[in-house]
This record gives sequence, C-alpha cells and structure tokens, in this order.
Amino acid sequence: MPDTFTLDGSRRNDAMSETAFSSLDLVGQCMADRVRSEQFDLAIRSVVQPHQTVIDVGTGSGLLALFAARAGARRVIAIEYDEYIAEVARENVRNNGYQDVIEVIEADARDCRFEPGSSFDVVITEMLTTGMIDEFQVQAINNLHRQGVVNASTIFIPCRQETFAALAHTEFEIYGLRMRMVRHLWEEFGGEQFKRVRLF
Ligand SMILES: C[S@@+](CC[C@H](N)C(=O)[O-])C[C@H]1O[C@@H](n2cnc3c(N)ncnc32)[C@H](O)[C@@H]1O
Repeated sequence: MPDTFTLDGSRRNDAMSETAFSSLDLVGQCMADRVRSEQFDLAIRSVVQPHQTVIDVGTGSGLLALFAARAGARRVIAIEYDEYIAEVARENVRNNGYQDVIEVIEADARDCRFEPGSSFDVVITEMLTTGMIDEFQVQAINNLHRQGVVNASTIFIPCRQETFAALAHTEFEIYGLRMRMVRHLWEEFGGEQFKRVRLF
C-alpha cells in the first residue's frame, strides 16, 4: 500500500446517487442506532490488527472508520461521495485526533480508481439498504474486486446479509389523516425489527 493514497474519484450524477442516501439526517440515524453501531464496533475490534490497512466504503459520519482507527488500524481510507458529509467526516476525524490514520476521500465507490499497489486487509461498508443493491453496496464491492485491491484473505465487515421480504398492507393513515409517506421508520410498523443486526 503506497504511503500517500490517491484515487480518481469520478462522481456519477444519476438521481439515486445524488438524492437517495446522501443525507446528514440518515447518517445521523445510523450513528444514533446504538444496537447497530455497537455491533460494528465489536466486529471491528475483533478483526482489525495494528498493522492493517482498512477501507471504509460510504463512511458517512466517519463512525466506522473511527472505530477501525480506535481498534488500532495503521491506515484507514474512508470513501464518501457526498461533499458535505465528507467534510463532516473529516471534522469528526480531526476532533478525535485520528487525522494521521484516517484519510477521508470524496469519491463514488462504484467506479473510483485505486492507485496501483493499493490493497486492503479489511473492508468495512454499511450501505446495506434493501439487499445491498439499493444503496450500491454490491456495486462498490464489485469495484474493489475488479481492481484487485482485495483478495481471498481480505475480511469484509459485514461479510453477508440476509434479506427478508414480507407482503404487507398498510392504510397510510396517521393523526387521522391519509398521508403518503415511507413507513419503515415508524415505530408501530415494527421499527424494532429493523434493528436486529447480524454481522457474522
Ligand atoms: C447508510 S450511510 C452509513 C454511514 C456510516 N458508514 C455508518 O455506518 O454509520 C451510507 C453512506 O454512504 C455514502 N454512499 C452511498 N453510496 C456511496 C457511493 N457509491 N460511494 C461513496 N459513498 C457512498 C452515503 O452518502 C452515506 O454517507
């Protein structure tokens, strides 16, 4: 792994990438989800060794990159395609004193190009929405494989995802009004069931 890390972070401009998941509010919700985040911290601490290089794909607030740095990683590359969120992540990195370990790079993980010789011991990525496809986790991981920056001994956190689908009927009624709205964050729709996270 080269000491200075450069990456050609070409950014796509399709509607999904610019609107769907680039929200500081969503990133904040991830961070506030203690069950999820503590499971990641546990997994990262049980895997990351002091000499290792880590990539955190879709770093958001930088939380998982910071967990990796705190676990002792030598070098952490954190990729984030939202300019503003990347700036927030850099601030979080500085505020926690890990600026010599973590480098936040603004890029689209689906097609950014890595410097020849780059390789990662651990890949952390939490862009899991809807079967790892909706938020481009599969596409981002494919890009790592395509460029050979990961190999058979690279550890992925998480290493698999189980996706469940159920037929549902909902009236979209709240406060006595009919409202068209995404319901999966509403408590009475079973918010708790979405908090069960299995990383291994
Ligand atoms: C669900 S948030 C998770 C944030 C953080 N990893 C965590 O677990 O707390 C996903 C983050 O990935 C970023 N992201 C989504 N697709 C991306 C892509 N193709 N390349 C780089 N970042 C991406 C979003 O902007 C968002 O900040």
